[in-house]
Amino acid sequence: MYAIRLGFSRIETIGLVKKSSLYICSMLKAQGIFKAYGSLPVLKGIELSIAPKEVVSVVGSSGAGKSTLLHILGTLDRPDQGTLKINDSDVFNLKRQQLAAFRNKEIGFIFQFHNLLPEFTALENICIPGLIGGRSEKQVKARANELLKILNLSERADHKPGALSGGEQQRVSVARALINSPSIVFADEPSGNLDSKNADELHQLFFDLRDQLGQTFVIVTHNEALADMADRKLVISDGIIEK
Ligand SMILES: Nc1ncnc2c1ncn2[C@@H]1O[C@H](COP(=O)(O)OP(=O)(O)O)[C@@H](O)[C@H]1O
Ligand SMILES: [Mg+2]
Repeated sequence: MYAIRLGFSRIETIGLVKKSSLYICSMLKAQGIFKAYGSLPVLKGIELSIAPKEVVSVVGSSGAGKSTLLHILGTLDRPDQGTLKINDSDVFNLKRQQLAAFRNKEIGFIFQFHNLLPEFTALENICIPGLIGGRSEKQVKARANELLKILNLSERADHKPGALSGGEQQRVSVARALINSPSIVFADEPSGNLDSKNADELHQLFFDLRDQLGQTFVIVTHNEALADMADRKLVISDGIIEK
């Protein structure tokens, strides 16, 4: 077994080494991230690298700045200071429209509340980010149907969110996050609104999607089981990631 540490991030397989801790490439790198709301400093110098196919959990007390960090890493908000590179794009230097296109293509989001549009079916909800991204309806629908199958939702394709269970609604929002095959998916308390059985199933799903699709996830959670299942658990405290 070889275990060589060269940086912060991990690649998966080197020769005989399965899931080695060879640290080489990162697909996301945040450096010196500061963010304050008025006179309240929230993030005070976040340093973070994420490797492809990693599942990283983020924990910390309520108000520690987890959502603030996730929104910045997801390019939904800007830091006061700091840089963010995703796949070598210096994202906060992109122009507004370029950034919107980048976000649509490269980043998926899953929130605590599914935020599905009530007047559209599951299939239509899943397709929306793909259509916004300019792909053909045929192509997007085909991918949405594949995802519905993977997520065991094919029977539910034509149902509107109100006719789905909480677990199904959240799985539809996972499919919506995946429709453009993003580089990374950010989830903010994704199981916070689910009972424990549905929460456990959703958590397992993240790891299955990593194994099947090579999907990278960063997941903010209060759920200790999920936090501990992750490849790495980051703790935010006093505005930084604890060492
Ligand atoms: N838009 C905002 N305006 C002012 N204060 C905010 C805003 N968003 C978050 N905060 C404050 O920043 C701190 C961190 O919030 P948040 O990132 O939501 O924490 P967490 O997700 O860890 O619970 C909290 O004190 C919160 O009240
Ligand atoms: Mg939060």
